Amino acid sequence: MPLHPTLGVSPAVATPYPDSPWVVLKFGGRSVSTAENWAIIAELIRDRLAEGVRPVVVHSALVGVSNALIALLDTAVAGGDTDEKLRKIRTQHDSLAKELKIAPALLDARFAVLEQVVAGVRLVGEVSPRVHARVLSFGELAATELGAAYLKSLGLDVAWLDIREYLECQTLRDQTERARYLSARCDFSADKELQRRFATIDGIVISQGFIARNAQGETVLLGRGGSDTSAAYLAGKLEARRLEIWTDAPGFFSADPKAVPSARLIKSLHYREAQEIASAGGGILHPRSISPVRASGIPLYLKCTTHPEWEGSTISNAQDDDQPPQLKAISHRSGITLVSMESMEMWHQVGFLADAFNVFREHGLSVDLISTSESNVTVSVDVTQNVADRAAIEALAADLRKLCKVTVIPDCAAITLVGRRIRTILHELGPVLEIFQEQKVHLVTQAANDLNLTFVVSSEHAYRLVQHLHGLLVNKFEGGVFGATWEQLTGGGAPAKAAPKPWWVKKKAQLLEIGSERDAAYVYDRDSIEGAIAALKSLRAVDSVFYAMKANPNREILKLVHERGLNFECVSPGEVARVLELFPSIDRKRILFTPNFAPRAEYEHALEQGVWVTLDNLFPLRQWGKSFKGKDVFVRIDTGQGRGHHEHVRTAGAHSKFGVPLFEIDELVELVAKAGARVVGFHAHTGSGVLDTDAWLDTGKQLLKLLERFPEVRYLDVGGGLGVPEKTGQAGLDLRALDARLAEVKQGCGDRQLWLEPGRFIVAQAGVLLARVTQTKGKGDVQYVGVATGMNSLIRPALYGAYHDIVNLTRLGKPATELVTVVGPICETGDRLGSDRLLPPAKENDVLLIANAGAYGYAMGSHYNLREPAEEILI
Ligand code: LLP
Repeated sequence: MPLHPTLGVSPAVATPYPDSPWVVLKFGGRSVSTAENWAIIAELIRDRLAEGVRPVVVHSALVGVSNALIALLDTAVAGGDTDEKLRKIRTQHDSLAKELKIAPALLDARFAVLEQVVAGVRLVGEVSPRVHARVLSFGELAATELGAAYLKSLGLDVAWLDIREYLECQTLRDQTERARYLSARCDFSADKELQRRFATIDGIVISQGFIARNAQGETVLLGRGGSDTSAAYLAGKLEARRLEIWTDAPGFFSADPKAVPSARLIKSLHYREAQEIASAGGGILHPRSISPVRASGIPLYLKCTTHPEWEGSTISNAQDDDQPPQLKAISHRSGITLVSMESMEMWHQVGFLADAFNVFREHGLSVDLISTSESNVTVSVDVTQNVADRAAIEALAADLRKLCKVTVIPDCAAITLVGRRIRTILHELGPVLEIFQEQKVHLVTQAANDLNLTFVVSSEHAYRLVQHLHGLLVNKFEGGVFGATWEQLTGGGAPAKAAPKPWWVKKKAQLLEIGSERDAAYVYDRDSIEGAIAALKSLRAVDSVFYAMKANPNREILKLVHERGLNFECVSPGEVARVLELFPSIDRKRILFTPNFAPRAEYEHALEQGVWVTLDNLFPLRQWGKSFKGKDVFVRIDTGQGRGHHEHVRTAGAHSKFGVPLFEIDELVELVAKAGARVVGFHAHTGSGVLDTDAWLDTGKQLLKLLERFPEVRYLDVGGGLGVPEKTGQAGLDLRALDARLAEVKQGCGDRQLWLEPGRFIVAQAGVLLARVTQTKGKGDVQYVGVATGMNSLIRPALYGAYHDIVNLTRLGKPATELVTVVGPICETGDRLGSDRLLPPAKENDVLLIANAGAYGYAMGSHYNLREPAEEILI
């Protein structure tokens, strides 16, 4: 029977039980927490009734209630004030009851029991897993009572069930007491007895997710996210026609939309693929809920409660192995700790792995990914799932050390490519592997079932890698399995709405005037630059800020920076000359010259001018020692670890050309003495576009270690690199945390000065590139919007794959309905300012705004194709 056109599930796939009367629908906590959503749920139920099936509705506790109950128990154990916490939980239920026009007294008896149990916990000062399960079950029981009462009030025939009378868990060998009560499992094979009992119930069944009973009749929980699992168990036992899981997202996406707004909805997946994505951190479906439906081939539909009209993801057997290879998603999961075990003897030692894994068992930790070589076995321990803290890992490592050498690598993230026959697409991964060139990949595994390939890297790189991989890979595998992008569905989603409006929204009229008079222009906002400088000046640990003028050497901006009292970091004689031309009487010690592989004459000239000079190699001292006789110099140190948004901008570590490596320090001491120079400052800059504030602490610590050998050092310059968010709404650099980290460095400095030399932070957000639309084109799946300037003005997207927000300023606020690639007029395919952007349909002469372009925009512009880069205007 055809379903309601908007509320149905589609495309319909074959079900092994076409005659089953049962359809199981599960709703998550958010879905059942508002009256608007309940109105939708009621409509979905009516729709199912019209289809001629019997809905079994399973749902979670109201949003936040499970966590509130855990907090309540913690408070009770600690003997704290539980009344306030209880009142809050009650108020949440009462408010929903009122919205649903149900008398809140309905829940009086249930709350009375909860109060009693909590009072008992308070008295004994501890909570057993058994009591924990009982208290948590309250959330689902109360919420379903409200739901049932609401549906009844609409005149629907509803039967509320206590699921504990129908769902009994299994007793498993080797299960700890905690797991028995808090992470129980049920059998899910067809259950004729249950089917018979359900057949005797009249009306729509509504019951609880997450809970069940054990053989003794006590309450048990099915683990966090267990409502999905409950629904899947019921579907399996009832031999249901299908399972529908309704949440606040429409389904699986090709990547986490928070990281990749152009992530695509995956319309159809095989159970195995869904299992991989769910297990690799997919988030919206509990991994345990797949096998119960997979066992009998019951199709599973994921749908969005607030938007039932959106297409969702369908999980079934329909996509099978004879189909071509297909990449479906790039998942990532953080909170991973690696344990690397090394032993030269292990390969010929019978039982080594058994012994090692036994230690994991003894510590109650489960192993997830494994890679082995003759002398090393590295495994991942999923700390989020195991609730294993650092102490637990350290205890494990201590025991493992009795067997072999052990290294613990914390704060890792696993990035997984999920798809079908991944092995056959290895050749497509060439460019992908390039991304990993500069980053330490701690572990690589390929699943034995040919469904995934996983890389484990440091957490801080995870988001960026997912973005890159998605851009490189997903669109290559169209294959009809992808639907709308997250942006298309949500218009960009919640974070952007919450963020403060960028300056260019407020100055739209002025910008449009500028844009309408020329093809393209860089516009810089004075107020924003002043704001950034003020923020830097508020860093209490920093004595002096040098503006890295390579980011933007525009004369008007330099004047503003000078006016506000910043100093200048210059990398070429040209930059030094520009500063001296603008400010002839400037104190020369406010200029730091930091050349790299420069000719001898540049050093000599700079020394003559009296500016600070940085050496970033021993060569000048070795070969031109005489030039430095009696001079004070800075030395740039390579502290070993490069950081930054792209390999090209990571300026420390073995693969970077910058700085004196730590192993050359002895020679540096000798050469300085021999030349008769003095090292008065240390300098380090590990990379650009860094948001992790530990970076500057690490650098500072490395420099502090060298002070002992260089008593004449008076300045420590920990570099620039301060990042800014790429997308509107993303979190920026935490300046307070940065100040706290720098304060640690400053403490070790004694009376020496601590310097910073940012470029991007001062100018990036203050600058936008305006470009007029020239032409549009539709070619196959891809729509192009052409603008009057491209990589000759802004090369960052082509060079680093950098992301810049793009808006159609002429049509700001108009519905964004077209997915387009924005290109310039340069004769290169790489002349792309942004791919897969959701914009309102553009017309010739509209003005597009490319945001965050004040740093390394014009500065890196060129005359390529003899096209002038956009002109610059300061407002
Ligand atoms: N100090 C030194 C020694 C540097 O090499 C740099 C940047 C900075 C300071 C300033 O870094 P910032 O605070 O701006 O991140 N073209 C690339 C950035 C290259 C950065 C080069 N060095 C981009 O567009 O992202």
